[in-house]
Amino acid sequence: MATADRARRFWDQRAEEDAFYFVDNRLAYGAPDLERFWAGGEADMAELLRQAGTSIEPGDDIVEIGCGVGRLTRVLAREGASVRALDVSPRMIELARKHNPALANVEWIVGDGATLAGVDFQSADVCVSHVVFQHISDPLVTLAYVREIGRVLRPGGWAAFQVSNDPAVHQPQRGLRNAVNRIRASARRAPRGQAHPDWCGSYVDLDDLRAAAGAAGMDIERLVGEGTQYCIALTRKRAA
Ligand SMILES: C[S@@+](CC[C@H](N)C(=O)[O-])C[C@H]1O[C@@H](n2cnc3c(N)ncnc32)[C@H](O)[C@@H]1O
Repeated sequence: MATADRARRFWDQRAEEDAFYFVDNRLAYGAPDLERFWAGGEADMAELLRQAGTSIEPGDDIVEIGCGVGRLTRVLAREGASVRALDVSPRMIELARKHNPALANVEWIVGDGATLAGVDFQSADVCVSHVVFQHISDPLVTLAYVREIGRVLRPGGWAAFQVSNDPAVHQPQRGLRNAVNRIRASARRAPRGQAHPDWCGSYVDLDDLRAAAGAAGMDIERLVGEGTQYCIALTRKRAA
C-alpha cells in the first residue's frame, strides 16, 4: 500500500496547489476559468461516451474511479440514478463536496488507491474513469482496478474508461526545460510535480488489459486509440 500512500500524498498536495489545473491542465495554471472547467467536464464525458459507443440510462447506478473535484460526477449524477464517486485523495473529495453541494444522489468515497473497497459485488450498472489510470505509476494497480470493475458490475453492465497505451508520454521531462520548469515551480510560477511518478504515470499493455478484463468476467467490446495516451475501452460484464 506504499504506492497508494504516496499517490494520496501527491494528489492531496496538487489539490492544495491548484486542484482545477491538475484535474484539467488545459486551463491556465493558478488562474482557472471555472466556467470553462465545468464545461470541459460536460464535453469530456460526452466524448468518452461517444468514443466508447455507449450511453447512460436514467436508472443506472454508476461508479466513477478518480473523480477529482467532481467535474464529470456532475454529469453522471444528472444522467444516472446514483453515483459512487471515488478518489484516492481526501483533499480532492473534500473539494468535490464543497463544489457540488446539490448532488443528492452522489456518495463521495475516499478510496484506498487500488481497489473499489466499499462498493458491493455486482451493485453497479456502469463504471467510468477518465484521465486517472494514465497517472498511476504502476500498471498493475490499473489492472487491479479493471478486475475490481468486473467485481462490482452487474451482469450486462458496462465500463468505459481511458488508459494510456503510449509508453513514450510517461518519461519525466529532463534537461534544460526540466531545470527551467523546476525553478519556475519553486517560485510558484509553474506547476510542481511534473517529473513525479504519480504525475508521469504509466501505460498499460493491451494484452494485459484483455487478460485482466477476461479474468474478471468481462469482454472488451471496443478499443479506440490503441497506441495513444487516450485509449478508450468499453468492457461488458458477461451474463451470469
Ligand atoms: C487528472 S485528475 C482527473 C479527475 C476526473 N477524472 C476528471 O476528469 O475530472 C486525476 C484524479 O485521479 C485521482 N487518482 C490518482 N491516482 C488514483 C488512484 N490510484 N486511485 C484513485 N484515484 C486516483 C487523483 O486524486 C485525481 O483526483
